[in-house]
Amino acid sequence: MKQNFELKLIDKQNIPTEEPERQYYFMDIAKNYVAQLAEKKGAPLTFHVTTFGCQMNARDSEKLTGILERIGYVEAEDEKADFVIYNTCTVRENANNKVYGRLGYLSGYKKKNPFMMIGLCGCMMQEPTVVEKIRTSYSFVNLVFGTHNIYKFAELIVNALESERLTIDIWKDTDKIVEDLPVERKYSFKSGVNIMFGCNNFCSYCIVPYVRGRERSREAKEIVREIERLATDGVKEIMLLGQNVNSYGKNLETPMTFAELLQEIEKIDGIERIRFMTSHPKDLSDELIETMKNSKKICNHIHLPLQSGSSRILKIMNRRYDKEHYLELVRKIRAAMPDIAITTDIIVGFPGETEEDFEETMDVVRQVEYDSAFTFIYSKRMGTPAATMENQVPEDVVKERFDRLLKLVQDISAKKAGALTGQTLPVLVEERNEQDTRLVTGKLSNNSTVHFEGSKDMIGTIQNVYLEECKGFYYMGKVVS
Ligand code: 5AD
Ligand code: SF4
Repeated sequence: MKQNFELKLIDKQNIPTEEPERQYYFMDIAKNYVAQLAEKKGAPLTFHVTTFGCQMNARDSEKLTGILERIGYVEAEDEKADFVIYNTCTVRENANNKVYGRLGYLSGYKKKNPFMMIGLCGCMMQEPTVVEKIRTSYSFVNLVFGTHNIYKFAELIVNALESERLTIDIWKDTDKIVEDLPVERKYSFKSGVNIMFGCNNFCSYCIVPYVRGRERSREAKEIVREIERLATDGVKEIMLLGQNVNSYGKNLETPMTFAELLQEIEKIDGIERIRFMTSHPKDLSDELIETMKNSKKICNHIHLPLQSGSSRILKIMNRRYDKEHYLELVRKIRAAMPDIAITTDIIVGFPGETEEDFEETMDVVRQVEYDSAFTFIYSKRMGTPAATMENQVPEDVVKERFDRLLKLVQDISAKKAGALTGQTLPVLVEERNEQDTRLVTGKLSNNSTVHFEGSKDMIGTIQNVYLEECKGFYYMGKVVS
């Protein structure tokens, strides 16, 4: 579509071929363009990044924000901004539908704002049918890119600003990892850190390996360098991110295990809490359990997706563990760390799931007694092996099972909540309580929420808090000086 504004274009010479230098070159050009537009507008240009999906996407959005701020955009509270970006998710069908719904609204805003640009990125854009639909039915969008070339954002912005047509750049896969680009953290005291990208597991229901590409690990020295910088910057808690952190380092030139990486990170001064997600049960090693047990910094929580409790279904899901192996893992983890919080993901209604299969899932939930569980209704994703399997389970059967599972999960969480009442434990203070400003809200090592009386300057500090009372899913406490 035609832009509603005119720019004095910059002649590009000696464009660097190396990264990240190339992107810094394009950031300078973008900055010039944004300044030209701000002058026409008579005010700074604003942006809003809306994130759908998981923590990986949240971290990617911080990278987008880092670049946007560097080139002169100012963050706006809502989508009535000059540059709106949707960082999309496609893991389940309803995530896609949300994006199409909201794009309708955006087109209305765009008609009223001559400076407005719309960008779409993330997992959903890796699907050719989605891009085709955007091209034909949502042509007011300016920029579409995928998960593999997000580091090229500055270059793509320049392209989109200069172009009269929709800029589309989607790569099928990449083996490239670009370090040292700007990133703007949402929180001052905690941060996600990517340790690997992609996934090689091909669970038969899951679209992630198709949209996030093959598994690649970052070099340990780059990860450590990033965390050291974060620590210097005041960050206390890091969340190591990967689709399957337990297979970290397998494809590095000098292979390294996830447990070894954790031991390196443990040594970094200033970092007080280490979290990670997600752990695949098939790759969870005794070495990792031992490392967690001996660590002073690794949090008392593990997210261990079960997906199904039926060994028969797990096999068809291509999960490569069975019910017994999973239960054995949980037993080993609890033997090493008796009060660890265990959480999970469960899918209900995978093709061919019978009542007996579902009962196996309920049985694991009863045995493990998860602190909490994310439960999902199976969603058919085009291109995955499960999408063409016969015996798709009827909707009403799935719904009824889903409700039964949810009730069980909630009953168990409620029973387990409050187990720490009466103890005094460290809490990382995250924010002021929205309802009652005399209170602050923070997290225990096991990820439970605690509210207690405190002040704004406690945010980002670790306080010893006496857990006085448990109210459903959170504790009320008192600072112990
Ligand atoms: N349908 C439902 N849930 C899914 N997940 C992944 N793919 C699907 C799907 N097709 C769930 C899994 C995974 C979580 C992130 O999303 O439980 O662990
Ligand atoms: Fe999807 Fe399985 Fe990879 Fe997780 S491990 S992202 S569920 S394919």
